[in-house]
Amino acid sequence: MKLAVSGKGGTGKTTLAAALAHILSRQAHRVILIDADPDMNLQVTLGLQGIVKPLVEMKELIQERTETKPGGVAPVFKLNPTVDDIPEKYFLRQDNLLFAVMGTVRGGGLGCTCPENAFLKALLRHLVLRRKEIVILDMEAGIEHLGRGTTAGIDWLLIMVEAGQKSVQTTLNIKHLAEGLGVKQIAAVANQIQNPEQKAYLQQKLVGVQILGFLPYDPAIKEAELKGVPFWTKATSFMEAVENLAKRLEQANGKTENEHKERTRKEEKAA
Ligand SMILES: Nc1ncnc2c1ncn2[C@@H]1O[C@H](COP(=O)(O)OP(=O)(O)O)[C@@H](O)[C@H]1O
Ligand SMILES: [Mg+2]
Repeated sequence: MKLAVSGKGGTGKTTLAAALAHILSRQAHRVILIDADPDMNLQVTLGLQGIVKPLVEMKELIQERTETKPGGVAPVFKLNPTVDDIPEKYFLRQDNLLFAVMGTVRGGGLGCTCPENAFLKALLRHLVLRRKEIVILDMEAGIEHLGRGTTAGIDWLLIMVEAGQKSVQTTLNIKHLAEGLGVKQIAAVANQIQNPEQKAYLQQKLVGVQILGFLPYDPAIKEAELKGVPFWTKATSFMEAVENLAKRLEQANGKTENEHKERTRKEEKAA
């Protein structure tokens, strides 16, 4: 199962990605979790110890793999570097979890044509299309830079949304873009829900969007953040709702597994 979490800033993408990774890895699944948001803070949320250098800052590695020849007007580099061994060699491992931070590509983000991007894109493609593990991508508010082959391999794009006009608008925008990019299953996940009115508001405003779950506002999440500890044990109402969400994702995924394999094969060929 390959998941990407997107949505407006502050809606809870990182919180959900961390909670899903925690729940699924504890259920003995092997999980690869990627912080792909330039505003990276997933490691803190996870409470993962150890120094994680953003991949984009591994200059020598990127140069070696992309065979970059600096100098001249523009550097020459390979667009399909070998990356199969990167997760095992460079990701942080904790029990069933492999974790990495992508980092920000300076000047143009993931849209620019540069060795860093060729490397990151090849890595994302590898993770989404080739790996057996569950992959969770904590993204920014947009998935345009993933590349078609990669987006087509994503089983679920989860768009985090809270009860508010701006977040609803972002959700509708992301959904529209993602459909154009060939993502098959797109669903909203409502977060920080405090009362039935907020739930009704989202049901009314998100026309044509499947809402896969309603996650409650849980003050224990902020309390844990203040103390600098993971929220799993204290935020019981939130974690229970995420467990239900994980079950729904896995059930729906079982049904589409074969279809997905077929689609991935086709997309890989096309890419
Ligand atoms: N269900 C929730 N209940 C209470 N606080 C939450 C909830 N979800 C997220 N938060 C808090 O909201 C803030 C933004 O969440 P975060 O996951 O960092 O959002 P994003 O990654 O989308 O920017 C954080 O302080 C987080 O602890
Ligand atoms: Mg975040």
